[in-house]
Amino acid sequence: MNYPHLFEPIKIGGVTVRNRIFAAPIGHPDNLLGKFTDDAIAVFERKAMGGAAVVTHGESSVDCKYGKRFGINLSLDTQQPKRGLAKFADAVRRHGALPSMELLHPGNKSVPNTETIGIGFTAPVVYGPSATVINGIEVQEMPEDIIWEIIEKYAISAKNCQNAGFGMVMVHAGHGWLPNQFMCGRTNRREDQWGGSLENRARFTIEIVDAIHKACGKDFPVEVRISSTEVIDGGYTAEDGAAFAQLLEGHADLINCSVGYGEGLADSYRTMTLTHPCMYREDGVNVKYAGIVKSHMKYTPISAVGALSDPAMMEEIIASGTADIVEVGRGLICDPELPNKARDGREDEITHCMRCFYCFSNGIARGAFWCALNPDTNREIALTKAQTPVVPKKVLIVGGGIGGMRAAITAAENGHEVILCEKGDRLGGHIRCEDKVPFKKHLKEYLDQQEKKILESNIDVRLNTEVTPEYAKEIGADALIAALGARPVKPDLPGIDGANVYGAEEVYVNPDLVKENAVILGAGLVGTELALYLKSLGKNATVIEMAEKMEPGDNALGVMAIQVQFREQGMKINFKTKATRIDEGGVYAETEEGEKYFPADTVIYAVGQKALSDEAMALYDCAGRFYLLGDCMVPNNIADANKMGKTIALDIGRI
Ligand SMILES: Cc1cc2nc3c(=O)[nH]c(=O)nc-3n(C[C@H](O)[C@H](O)[C@H](O)COP(=O)(O)OP(=O)(O)OC[C@H]3O[C@@H](n4cnc5c(N)ncnc54)[C@H](O)[C@@H]3O)c2cc1C
Ligand SMILES: Cc1cc2nc3c(=O)[nH]c(=O)nc-3n(C[C@H](O)[C@H](O)[C@H](O)COP(=O)(O)O)c2cc1C
Ligand code: SF4
Repeated sequence: MNYPHLFEPIKIGGVTVRNRIFAAPIGHPDNLLGKFTDDAIAVFERKAMGGAAVVTHGESSVDCKYGKRFGINLSLDTQQPKRGLAKFADAVRRHGALPSMELLHPGNKSVPNTETIGIGFTAPVVYGPSATVINGIEVQEMPEDIIWEIIEKYAISAKNCQNAGFGMVMVHAGHGWLPNQFMCGRTNRREDQWGGSLENRARFTIEIVDAIHKACGKDFPVEVRISSTEVIDGGYTAEDGAAFAQLLEGHADLINCSVGYGEGLADSYRTMTLTHPCMYREDGVNVKYAGIVKSHMKYTPISAVGALSDPAMMEEIIASGTADIVEVGRGLICDPELPNKARDGREDEITHCMRCFYCFSNGIARGAFWCALNPDTNREIALTKAQTPVVPKKVLIVGGGIGGMRAAITAAENGHEVILCEKGDRLGGHIRCEDKVPFKKHLKEYLDQQEKKILESNIDVRLNTEVTPEYAKEIGADALIAALGARPVKPDLPGIDGANVYGAEEVYVNPDLVKENAVILGAGLVGTELALYLKSLGKNATVIEMAEKMEPGDNALGVMAIQVQFREQGMKINFKTKATRIDEGGVYAETEEGEKYFPADTVIYAVGQKALSDEAMALYDCAGRFYLLGDCMVPNNIADANKMGKTIALDIGRI
């Protein structure tokens, strides 16, 4: 069998599960409405179909009185979500996976009053292990009777989940939630049996686990998610995390080794990029902490999590004894079929998450975890609905970038005759310029996979072919998809045509154009990532930007991750700095302190993209139907081009 360690069944509590790949806890924004929607359930069902052994639903409240984090999120201690819980559990279980629910109490981070956001929930008081003030909210020390009441609520919630068909629960004792607040000396200054020594600080979590076993039976598996280290200066270390885990032996059935305390700390943005490793961190960056915990355990299995999607790496983690299980979060958003593909030996078909944060940012901002590379995520139901039969058509696709490739693959799968024309000498589009950038390696893999799929299909690929209206008319297609992309905007500045000035894409392709020092005009994604790339090559890049901050666009967390990198690398962006002219030695700019000169051997512009819409619209009447997609409509992002490519191709021959 491929990956024999990864696919060896394992017993957790009294239950044997089919392999060692678990779907890490991820919530769904719909559940913040206090109920399950069919859309949300379909996301988790897809992971079960894809072969994960356990599918865990994310943070859900065990205490509707004192423990609300997001307004009216699922209240497991009530009967309110009963029907949805049962539908969720059934959807996962019927595919042979074990449904698990993550139990959350936010403690001192509970929301006291959601009336302001129109939900109308009011907590009588916010309790934490010790009294404090958080963001202006007064937190009271939790009295002993409330501690026991909350422990009981964990048990009631677990029992409700079990009654609904869940086969397992996960107690969230990491990321700064209530059990973690008890564990952490900074937030727990109690002098009673719940504070002081490690044993006392761990007592709350242990009592919760024991209460759940008492309510649900000793064979009912209880996983405990811990932060094996806080990954901040002065926070607790992996050795401390291991000591906590040791105390859980004989109580918990599985210990999940995440990292980070979560929000509320000065360094919380950096922590965020480690709890959910961003693309600038290496694959499996947190596995080493799980290894430290594992080395202290006698018999309780532990799981590693974070930036895992390569089955060979996962196999090695288990074969080497670093962990017993791997948990995968975004890797299964990006490709829920990952476990099946690994088992089948189709690992080269796995779409690896590039850890761009687009899903998470959209979940927060728009209420859906759409994925940049997987256009099917969060559209599971729409995509499986019965469709009208396809009438085969002749389809001409102009542009072999992100959107054009997706459209070509989908149209060909639907039985159309597809001609894909690309004016460059290979498929992939403008973003191919980043092929050598180490932190974009998973994006390159994705482009290579799409390219391979197309070259191995019956799609008629015509490289080095710039489609003109005459060329398109001659083909006589039933439908034409214009996926031409955009071109970089060249700012109108004196000196812009100098021999020392280049567009960002040129420098991505050939970073040696920069000798030692570059000035980059523009602090968007393209410019700031180029600065990070040049820095990794030992070159200095000064970024200047006329706005006063980086725009979050539709990936606020992605921007945050860039800012964290700039801080970690001692780099800065010069905001409110407007370039006025360029000479052979650098850039003049207006700043709040007056004119400033930024010396550089190379000047790079990264000030945005202009849609190739005129060129696209010139093709408007060259085929029966005309479709416009991606950057040639409005310069945007990979997710948008992918989604449009898929959806438009599905429409052809049907609508
Ligand atoms: C340097 C850089 C970094 C980026 N990084 C990110 C990122 O990290 N995340 C993200 O979400 N987005 C990123 N983007 C944006 C993202 O690349 C685009 O939004 C996406 O590629 C748009 O896809 P598309 O299919 O519309 O166009 P493209 O992928 O650009 O493809 C257009 C293709 O059409 C071809 N073409 C043009 N005219 C013709 C013609 N007449 N005939 C034939 N072929 C033609 C072009 O050669 C090109 O290959 C980045 C963009 C750049 C430039
Ligand atoms: C969109 C999203 C939602 C998440 N929701 C939760 C959650 O509800 N509870 C939790 O403990 N972790 C949550 N996580 C963290 C994941 O469980 C996981 O630990 C983290 O993303 C690192 O794993 P990955 O690199 O495989 O994504 C979430 C992560 C993402 C990306
Ligand atoms: S949107 Fe980005 S981070 Fe999220 S799953 Fe897809 S590739 Fe990964």
